[in-house]
Amino acid sequence: MWALRPERISLYGTHLWDRLSEEKRRELSRLEVASVATVGIWFETILMQMLVRHAYRNDPTTNHVQYAYTEIADECRHTVMFARMVGKLGWRAHRLDPVAYHLGRVFKAIAHGPLIFAGALFVEEVLDQIQREAMADERILPLVRSVSRIHVVEEARHMRYAREEFARDWAGRGALNKAYSRLLLGLVTYYSTTRLINPKVYERVGLDPGEARRVASANPHWIDTKTWAARKVVATLTTAGAVSGPGRRFWRKAGLLGR
Ligand SMILES: [Fe+2]
Ligand SMILES: [Fe+2]
Repeated sequence: MWALRPERISLYGTHLWDRLSEEKRRELSRLEVASVATVGIWFETILMQMLVRHAYRNDPTTNHVQYAYTEIADECRHTVMFARMVGKLGWRAHRLDPVAYHLGRVFKAIAHGPLIFAGALFVEEVLDQIQREAMADERILPLVRSVSRIHVVEEARHMRYAREEFARDWAGRGALNKAYSRLLLGLVTYYSTTRLINPKVYERVGLDPGEARRVASANPHWIDTKTWAARKVVATLTTAGAVSGPGRRFWRKAGLLGR
């Protein structure tokens, strides 16, 4: 079965897609879902650390900090759930390339309020859109549909929390802080998005990973998929004035603002 709707696969509609047999296309769908889940795990681990730091600085008797602890517990279970799914789909989590790996490390150590919640909202909304579609589609593997359904339900609370925390915090930040946040947010969204599909998945279906990566990043269908998945969070953050200046270039480069 498919693990992802064929139209959402990064190579859909390209000459490399035409070269793949039906069986290989389905295998690629499973590997791409597994790869996206490993990026989900990467970001959830970053998010857990950021939320722990957020709780460390604030008053644990407030509902607001207690909610942060609840979310850490949710993300912890999601990580185990995703990791098991990745194994069942025949993939394993490869460490990201050094640039993304170390930027993630720096980001989770230094990100402050607006960056924590805008970053979280970005990853959560993109995954949410893909999973909402998957959970309703009968062509998709039952395992992927069930994992998607669980995640969609639990993330609905997280996204609301992230949206509200972001808006509250952003409103109180000065011009310099906002400029810095916009740039860093652009970098985070760029690295999260461009790492969604590990080129090693292309190798597994018999394609040249370098060539397939280039073809995917220029693929108008794939750019449309990313823009579609990010459209809500792009609208929220653009309205707040968080997607402009030099940071905006990274959103565009990542294929999040259309062709
Ligand atoms: Fe999650
Ligand atoms: Fe979450």
